[in-house]
Amino acid sequence: MKITVVGAGNVGATCADVLATREIANEIVLLDIKEGFAEGKALDIWQTAPINQYDARTIGSTNDYAMTKDSEVVVITSGLPRKPGMSRDDLIATNAGIVKTVTENIIKYSPNAIIIVVSNPLDVMTYCAYLHAKTDSKKVFGMAGILDTARYRAFLATELNVSPKDIQAVLMGGHGDTMVPLPRYTTVSGIPVTELIAEDKLNEIIERTKFGGGEIVKLLGTSAWYAPGAAAAQMVEAIVRDQKRIFPVCAWLQGEYGMNDIYLGVPVILGKNGIEKIIELQLNSAEKALLAESAEAVKSVMDVLDNMNANA
Ligand code: LAC
Repeated sequence: MKITVVGAGNVGATCADVLATREIANEIVLLDIKEGFAEGKALDIWQTAPINQYDARTIGSTNDYAMTKDSEVVVITSGLPRKPGMSRDDLIATNAGIVKTVTENIIKYSPNAIIIVVSNPLDVMTYCAYLHAKTDSKKVFGMAGILDTARYRAFLATELNVSPKDIQAVLMGGHGDTMVPLPRYTTVSGIPVTELIAEDKLNEIIERTKFGGGEIVKLLGTSAWYAPGAAAAQMVEAIVRDQKRIFPVCAWLQGEYGMNDIYLGVPVILGKNGIEKIIELQLNSAEKALLAESAEAVKSVMDVLDNMNANA
């Protein structure tokens, strides 16, 4: 089985490395537009195989999409990352052109592929891929919720001094400052988190989560890669192993949560067909208001893309 990761930058290479090390696929194609870059990263990853004791093969390609032919899943990480002071939305013009070209090339060689978008601004780049893939929306979705909940869960694990494995959480909305962590759906081994943590501390963690990507941009001068790469690989695993896992995923809504024609983070079941089901939670009015605010923020950036396409 072949998986392609487009973009051999930090996120793409980390994703390929996790896919290979965990033997999630036996062939991983890493593709990049920069001459020799994907080949170099792929060779380095392949050379960890004898050390880490696995046989999944990672192969690099400089923009030769023929090598991606018949990929089951494609992860798109291409595009510029953020620099300090930039919002994810500042990347739209450059990254929309890149995501369009990548998607068209992918679909040409793998018309049935499931596409996972990681490029920013995430929700709108997922919409962009969907527009150009011209395929079922259940097969085009974005990775953000696993990353954002991972940040939330990691902060909670530090604060409560418990294993992050025991923290379960749902987070909804766009991959931006308006994302909606949901304390009512957060448990520590089944114990509601609100029984273990003071309200002001929990609110502090929620705020830190919303700006979790920016915190890393400030520290590193560029955006994160270990957690984003691992999160994308976890989605690939749920698909290729048909695990039916429940994750927050950026999905195309057609009536769910009372919303239409928008890509937004919602809990879904992921399996071999991609999004097998969108789960509709019974949100209370405060949660609904936060989700509506997040949807509005995403929609305004989707409109920017629609206007760019209309004027192209
Ligand atoms: C982040 C980027 C990858 O949240 O969006 O770190």
